[in-house]
Order: sequence, then C-alpha cells, then structure tokens
Amino acid sequence: MEKTMAADRSNWKRTHYCGELRPAHSGQDVVLMGWVHKNRDMGNLVFVDLRDREGLVQIVFRSDKAALIEEAKRLRTEFVVGVRGTVRPREAKNKDLATGEVEVEAKELKLFAASKIPPFAVADPPQASEELRFKHRYLDLRRPAMQRNIRLRHEAALRVRNFLSGKGFYEIETPFMTKSTPEGARDYLIPSRVYKGRFYALPQSPQILKQTLMISGFDRYFQIVRCFRDEDLRADRQPEFTQIDIEMSFIDREDLFVVIEELMASVFELIGEKLTLPFPKLSYKETMEKYGSDKPDLRIHLEMKDLTAIGKDLSADLLKNIFAAGGELKGLLLPGAGSLSRGQLDKLGEKAKSFGAKGLIWIKKQDGFKSSLRLAESEFESIWAALGGGEGDLGLLIADKKETGLKALGEIRRTWPQEKAGNKRDFKFAWVTDFPLMEWSDEEGRLVSMHHPFTSPLDEDMGLLEKEPARVRAKAYDLVLNGIEVGGGSIRIHDTELQRKIFSVLGLTPKETEEKFGFFLEALTYGAPPHGGIALGFDRLVMILAGEESIREVIPFPKTTSALCLLTNSPSEVSDRQLAELGLKLK
Ligand code: AMO
Repeated sequence: MEKTMAADRSNWKRTHYCGELRPAHSGQDVVLMGWVHKNRDMGNLVFVDLRDREGLVQIVFRSDKAALIEEAKRLRTEFVVGVRGTVRPREAKNKDLATGEVEVEAKELKLFAASKIPPFAVADPPQASEELRFKHRYLDLRRPAMQRNIRLRHEAALRVRNFLSGKGFYEIETPFMTKSTPEGARDYLIPSRVYKGRFYALPQSPQILKQTLMISGFDRYFQIVRCFRDEDLRADRQPEFTQIDIEMSFIDREDLFVVIEELMASVFELIGEKLTLPFPKLSYKETMEKYGSDKPDLRIHLEMKDLTAIGKDLSADLLKNIFAAGGELKGLLLPGAGSLSRGQLDKLGEKAKSFGAKGLIWIKKQDGFKSSLRLAESEFESIWAALGGGEGDLGLLIADKKETGLKALGEIRRTWPQEKAGNKRDFKFAWVTDFPLMEWSDEEGRLVSMHHPFTSPLDEDMGLLEKEPARVRAKAYDLVLNGIEVGGGSIRIHDTELQRKIFSVLGLTPKETEEKFGFFLEALTYGAPPHGGIALGFDRLVMILAGEESIREVIPFPKTTSALCLLTNSPSEVSDRQLAELGLKLK
C-alpha cells in the first residue's frame, strides 16, 4: 500500500475484469481494479464486492493476513482499489450474480483513490431524484444499468456503421457551424466574432447538406450525427440528439424501405430479437382513421370505426345537429369493459374532453343495452353490429369534428391499460406514408411543411399544388415503432422550379427564398439526381432496445426537461469582455 505510483504501475497490471470471472478461472492468480460496491466487516473476515464496467465479484480478506485485513476494514463504498488474489469456488453461491459461483481470495490490496460518501447509492434501480442523478452524473453512470445502456448504444452505433458501409454507404461529416435548416423548431445560434451581427446556426439536421452531397455524386451517404433543436422537451426529446442520417440517389421509396428494414433487423439482433420483414405500411389517412394517431402503437389491437352513415339514420337530435355542422360519428369498442362503473365512464368522458371533444357517448351491453344516449333497440343493434360488439363490451362514440373525434378516441385507445400491459418486448414497426405535404399553422397564420420544404409532392397530387395546397399529399414517410416516431424521411424535390414553387406556396417571398436557400436552389440547377432519404432517431432506438422509458437514460450527459445541464451548470453567463468581442449587448 505504501509503494510509489511508478513502482505500482509495473506491479499492478490488471489481468481480468471483475465481471468476467467464472468457475473456469479457479486456481488462477488475478489482478482486478475497480470500485468498492459494498463491504461487509465480519470481524475475522471482510467481504468486498468489487465493481467494474463488466460487473461485480466478491473478494475475501482473511484474518491470517493481519495487515491486509486491517487495510480492507478501512475501505468505503466507491473507493478505487486494485486487488491481487486467487480465484476459487465460492461456498455460498449467489445465483443473482454472473460471477456468483466464484470469489477472489485477496493477497494484496492497493488503494488508488478514496471517495467522499456518495450522495446516493450506486445501485439499480436509482434511488435519487433525477436532479441529483444529473448533478452527479459520473456516479449515476456507474450504475450497472447505465453501463449496460451506454455499451448498448456503442454496439448499436457500430452495427449501423458496419451494416451501412457494407451496403455501399459512405459516412460523411457535415458542419455544425452552418446555416439554419428548417425542421420546424427554433435554431441555436452561434454569434460570429469576425462578422459582428452575423450568426451561424447549429443544424437542426444535415438535410440540405446531405442533399448537396447527392448533387455531388456520392450516391449513398450516412452519418451518425448530432442535431440541435430549440423546442419543448419531453421524455423522448432533447435539445441535442443523435440521428442516423441517410440519403440515397436514384431510388424510390421501396428501395429505401428495404435498406432500413434490414438495418433495423440487424440492430435488433443485438437484443436477440428477430424482426419480421417487411414492415406493414399504412397511409396517413388510414392510420388516422383507425388509430387516431400518425404514430400508432400496433401492439394495441383496438381500431376505431366510422359510424357516420349509421349515425345519420339515428333519431337522436344531438347527432342531427352535429352532422348538420359537418361533424362525423366515430366509435371505439373496448372488449370486456361493459362492467366499468359510472365513475370510470365519467373519467373517460373527462379524458375525451381534455382532447377537445365536447362529449363522449357510451353504450354497454349487459342484459340489454345501456347507454348515455337514448336510442331504439334496433338502433343500438345496428351500432353494435358495426362496432363488432358482444355481450359485456363497451362502445365509446364521439360525434364531433372528424379530427377531434379521432384524436380523443385515439388517446383513449392509446392509453387503454388492458391492452398495454406486459408487452414490452413486442416490437411492432410500421411505415406511415403519404402524409399531407403541408398543414395549417395557427401560430404562423400560414401553411407550413409537415416534414420540411424539400419533400416531393405525390405525382398524382401535383395538379392541386396551386389551387388546393392543403390537399396535396407528399412522398413522405415515418417509421413508427410501438407508438414512437423513430424516423422520418421522404423522396425529395430535385427540380429547381418545383422547389421554388413550394417555397412560394409556403409564403416565402422571392427575396427570402434567395437569402435562405439561394445556394441550394443554384446547386439544384447543376444536375441533381433524383434522391431521397430518412433520419432515424438514434436515442429513441437505443431507448427502446434498452427497454427504457426516456432517452435521458441512454444519453451519457443529457439535459433536463428544462434544457439545463446540471453537471456543468450550463447554460451559464459569460463575461462582458466575451460579449463585447462578439459585438453583443444584453437587454
Ligand atoms: P425529423 O425531424 O423527423 O426528420 O427527425 C428524424 C428523427 O429524429 C428524431 N428526433 C428527435 N429525437 C430526440 N430529440 C429530439 N428533439 C428529436 N427530434 C427528432 C425522431 C425523428 O423521427 N431531415 C429530416 C429527415 C429526412 O427527411 O431525411 C429530419 O430531421 O426519431
């Protein structure tokens, strides 16, 4: 313990990771290095669980080595030590531990570093608030679950690189100091010192530059790349996040689907999953009408039904008024839920209202029909037949604007607990296609791109572009997994005039178009190949692979939901001198 570090380095060379040791190592002398996970002082015996990134192993110190056991008694959790000793079978085996059949009988101990008492135990599941975990992220990352997640992330990235380069893709870097690319969020800006009053933008995605690489003839590009978006954060959104960004020339949608499906199959092999290919395809219209969502969770089997035609024959005045105003009647059957109490039904009603519906009609069949709506028996029968209902089931109906009914019933469907339980290791992918090209933004008071302005309209809708742009569908697609959007992409516009027309339909003046996208429009005029691509949310994929609920669990140094880094305490203030150099003044 008292040797100098120089001498130690030659003597103390690790031979194994703690978590590696198995009965086959019995009898071997080993040198381990790691952190004290736990220590138990039994008087004439000291047990230490030593931890490194591969796992834990039990070390035993015995009283026949008096000086050694005294040193061991002074160890505390999170001290960093080296142990030299002999592997032997363990008397009391621990089935919960991979190394539980062996232990290491210590012969020598070297303390590399002591540790303050940690603010929380390095153990799974975490026993501290997220705030405390993020402040001491270095400790939180020592937890076996986090070590496993970060390793999985590495392995997934490696798979992606190997798979794509095997398919002829080049990984090409694009700059972080660049010009704004519109992906619908605010930009993070970097002030220029040299050109005061001018700013670089951190990329929301490499969209324009990857298209430029296609114009440059690279044919197949990918990049595992950081993107930056100043937007409202949630469990699956971070201000900086990582995409698997992909672009291909001379392809159509189906070519891309095949590559991405095979890529997903390769990545999911990491967790022992064999995916069924190809993935199902749903049009935007179909998924909205069946599931009330453009990212349907297909683990849930419930589907909505359109009951408008039946509704129009019903006697209820309430419905007549809604139909007169252009509303529709949507229904959702919840099998076996006929026993729900009045209170539980009221709660569902509240939920529907929180998603904008004016009300929720319920019908149950239990010894005859009971309903919040008064109808004739034959009318109940026809609704029940359309819903496919049986004895003991519950039907929920919303008569409202089409989108409102779909959204509210879609939320009830999505969160219906009986359907969600116990199917975490079920991976249901789907492609959602033919999105609208544009949607109305109340905030901006104009049409905005649903994906981004480089997305090509569907050929058959091209004629609507000027007269009815809101009805134009796009060659855009999302990849959805278990209700989460894991990717989005499109076939792009490669014609300069069409690209100009889209900017103009989006309300950009020729001057604005020139300032923002002039360089790209010019590039398009020098022979742009037909091309398309996609970006996959890498953090979201790893989150799902790891079985986590938040991407913060698979990002080593994440921000909080209020965009703070608690470890480094950023964003932080800067000196007046720095501001002055940049030509900036705070208001
Ligand atoms: P999009 O904006 O759909 O497409 O982004 C692609 C995927 O990135 C993930 N993602 C995020 N993950 C974590 N935090 C965020 N804030 C965040 N925002 C997006 C999602 C999403 O599906 N340039 C286009 C792609 C293309 O057209 O090729 C783009 O960026 O999983």
